[in-house]
Amino acid sequence: MLTNDTFLKACNREPAAHTPIWIMRQAGRYLPEYRKIRAKVDFLTLCKTPELAAEVTLQPVDILGVDAAILFSDILIPVEAMGVGLEFHEEKGPVLANPVRDMESAERLRVINPAEDVPFVLETIKILRRHLKVPLIGFAGAPFTVATYIIEGGSSKNFLNTKRMMYRHPDVFKKLMDRITATTTAYLKAQIEAGAQAVQLFDSWAGVLSPSDYVKYALPHVKKIFRRIKPLGAPTIYFVNNCAGILARAKRAGADVVGVDWRLDMNKAAKTVGKSFAIQGNLDPCVLFSTPGHIRDSAIDIVKKAEAAGGHIFNLGHGILPETPVDNVRALVDAVHEIKIG
Ligand code: CP3
Repeated sequence: MLTNDTFLKACNREPAAHTPIWIMRQAGRYLPEYRKIRAKVDFLTLCKTPELAAEVTLQPVDILGVDAAILFSDILIPVEAMGVGLEFHEEKGPVLANPVRDMESAERLRVINPAEDVPFVLETIKILRRHLKVPLIGFAGAPFTVATYIIEGGSSKNFLNTKRMMYRHPDVFKKLMDRITATTTAYLKAQIEAGAQAVQLFDSWAGVLSPSDYVKYALPHVKKIFRRIKPLGAPTIYFVNNCAGILARAKRAGADVVGVDWRLDMNKAAKTVGKSFAIQGNLDPCVLFSTPGHIRDSAIDIVKKAEAAGGHIFNLGHGILPETPVDNVRALVDAVHEIKIG
């Protein structure tokens, strides 16, 4: 039973008792309670063990009092299920085996069947719904962002291999994007059917594209996913990092909520998004390294400016950093809850 529906109300552009807040990457290394569990199991094992994944999902809800939980997993979990070898290195982050660079390897990628290929994700969701009093957010990576990992073989600076494939081998790029899009659609549908009450697509790297390339190569796939999951009725969130140059286009993706990073002012972002959509964001994660007073003032500024949109879900503009002081995160959550809205 939900005892706090402020998050779902804001997604649906209905008035809520206070501005809801959750934090991207809210379950993670800045929490001593998370580090304690991670000392015993590696990251992928944690993602694939439902009891443990559920436990770390619940940690920030209990410790911080946020208004939504986000499933503990990773955007690369379905990629591994598509047939790409995946490892997480302590320093390098994700490393994917045999990056896809030609038609043959693109065609080898499987479209996943979630119940068979990632049953642990669906089981984690079911456990969580038995415990949670706040809504549960499911998620996936947006196709362009996921494609960068599959093509580059890991994190990247200039995304050179990705863009070269886009420009010189558009047929290979399209094949890859189509496979990811079909996988992501099935994956999000299965998460909603298992009990996720909203879903977010993370487009962490779409902002490295020029606006016209974004419209041509990334946006149509995102639109297709939202169009196909819309009939299931769960609110949808589209987070685009580095979105300043493409926000007016990203809002046409078909999500109910548009998530924005901190590099553009909330005033401008909320006006661009307008009253027909809710907005999510957009505190600079580094503001959590300042003081409770400064954090509070920054939160008030964002909440006031977000009134130009149809609803507001407070969040950081990107994931919380591992070094963040927990007391300051708690100060942020309390401050957002105390701000008078309307
Ligand atoms: O938000 C949450 O609390 C839910 C869990 C979650 C994780 N990753 C856990 C994680 C979510 C929603 C993600 C999404 C994700 N994963 C994104 C999109 C969001 C973003 O940050 O842009 C991306 C690009 C990834 C890929 C990824 N996973 C990278 C590049 C890395 C290495 C960098 C890093 O932060 O360590 C990861 C690892 C990862 N994913 C960790 C966690 C908690 C750290 C693993 C550890 O415990 O050692």
